[in-house]
Amino acid sequence: PNTSAPLYEGKAKKVFATANPAEYRVQYKDDATAFNAQKRGSWAGKGAVNNAMTAHLFPLLEQAGVPTHFIEQLSDTEQRVKAVTIVPVEVIVRNVAAGSFCKRLGLEEGEPLARPVVEYCYKSDALGDPLINTDTAVALGWASEEDLARIRELALKVRDFLTPYFEQRGVRLIDFKLEFGKLPSGEIVLADEISPDTCRFWDAQTGERLDKDRFRRDLGGEAEAYAEMLRRVTAQV
Ligand code: C5P
Repeated sequence: PNTSAPLYEGKAKKVFATANPAEYRVQYKDDATAFNAQKRGSWAGKGAVNNAMTAHLFPLLEQAGVPTHFIEQLSDTEQRVKAVTIVPVEVIVRNVAAGSFCKRLGLEEGEPLARPVVEYCYKSDALGDPLINTDTAVALGWASEEDLARIRELALKVRDFLTPYFEQRGVRLIDFKLEFGKLPSGEIVLADEISPDTCRFWDAQTGERLDKDRFRRDLGGEAEAYAEMLRRVTAQV
């Protein structure tokens, strides 16, 4: 319930300044976009699932040695985070071939990879998040070599924590996207969200897709799939 203009409004979230310059308030929206905003939709409860899943996983990742921007959940759709400068590089980690990786390389979806693959994209809606490499990011001044090495190390740490975490809950973690931010101290921290919007989750038994591909591919049942994923993520196993 804040009526002031956001500092930033993305496709699925708004970020607000707070009385404390070191903190932001993030508000998760029910809106969904795909294919660089050519496809738009919305369903009740999406923002709440993504907020709750991120609020559940980020403290677990902190315990596993991944510093994050997360402070606390404020409401169904809001959380308090540390103010960071976002590194304009989307980091994709893949366990199994799917999505754009298959399109680009002519692979069948579901082909396991012999080792995890980390990919980098330039975070630009106007350009459709083009694939880059770390040389590009350094050459264009988006991050230092050291920052990128740390980002890669943290991205793989996230993967090493999340892959068995989901496996124990009957879910194959196929791939996911992360964003990182920089604190005023220079420390790199995990930012943004980890949710069915940003991960591919396949049911381990049936292969059913429990993520945003239900929306992207017009499979239907997106609200049910998101709710099921939140239930599994928060389940005691
Ligand atoms: O489309 P692609 O196969 O490259 O997506 C890889 C992973 O990154 C998927 O889990 C997808 O949900 C996520 N992703 C994202 N935001 C983007 C691009 C991909 O969350 N802009």
